[in-house]
Amino acid sequence: MKKKFMTCVAPFYHFKSARLDYYNATDDGDYKYLIEEMHQDVASLSGSSPKLLQPRLVDVHTTSEKCVVDKCLLRAVIDNDECKNIGIVSLKAIPPELAHHRCTEVHIYIGNKYRGLGYGAEATTWATWYAFQMAGMHRIQVSIPSFNTPATKLFEGLGFAEEGRQRSSIWFNGQWHDNVLYGVLKNEFRDWLETDSRFSYILGDLNNNCLLDGDF
Ligand SMILES: CC(C)(COP(=O)(O)OP(=O)(O)OC[C@H]1O[C@@H](n2cnc3c(N)ncnc32)[C@H](O)[C@@H]1OP(=O)(O)O)[C@@H](O)C(=O)NCCC(=O)NCCS
Repeated sequence: MKKKFMTCVAPFYHFKSARLDYYNATDDGDYKYLIEEMHQDVASLSGSSPKLLQPRLVDVHTTSEKCVVDKCLLRAVIDNDECKNIGIVSLKAIPPELAHHRCTEVHIYIGNKYRGLGYGAEATTWATWYAFQMAGMHRIQVSIPSFNTPATKLFEGLGFAEEGRQRSSIWFNGQWHDNVLYGVLKNEFRDWLETDSRFSYILGDLNNNCLLDGDF
């Protein structure tokens, strides 16, 4: 017998959370400024990637940024009510030969001026929702050098589980540091939505289009 398919939700606008809007990367001056700032932020670069720091690229916007955008499942510029381009949130694209694992990595950057206001947590929650609900992921992970206190607080505060620690695997500025892997599964995220009102607030209307029961 032919199986019947039904849609459970009507189309809805999902590039918005409580205080933030998410746009495609644009080519305007503000966006270039944000990318330049990100590439000059030594603390941020060393705290989010184990790559050896290099002198700043000339015209970073059209060279490395273009490569990054092409490797993303999601690359969203974050705006709040007053300002455009306060940060960037992205999910790494999965190569076809790894697609069956349905696992992606999240990366978040909030511009210096806008830190400590809860925007990092909000945008990461939204990207997590997007990865599970819209992109069909099963698992999201992030690896963070142990000296990146803001990111550690952010991911642990949201509920990402520490899954492993590569001891003394990152050489930075004359010292060894651990690389810490954090992850969340779709069913765990569903539990957060059901039990923690922070997430309902952040996701607002999106929460009505919640994760379907039994679909892991
Ligand atoms: C990590 C980062 C995204 C945090 O963004 P943010 O908007 O400042 O974070 P939030 O305001 O949402 O704070 C989230 C939690 O982290 C804590 N936190 C944030 N910055 C902190 C700091 N410098 N020291 C201690 N705790 C900090 C907050 O207190 C909050 O915890 P709480 O919920 O218990 O109050 C931001 O610092 C950043 O862009 N860093 C550079 C890029 C990076 O390292 N990305 C992470 C790797 S993917």
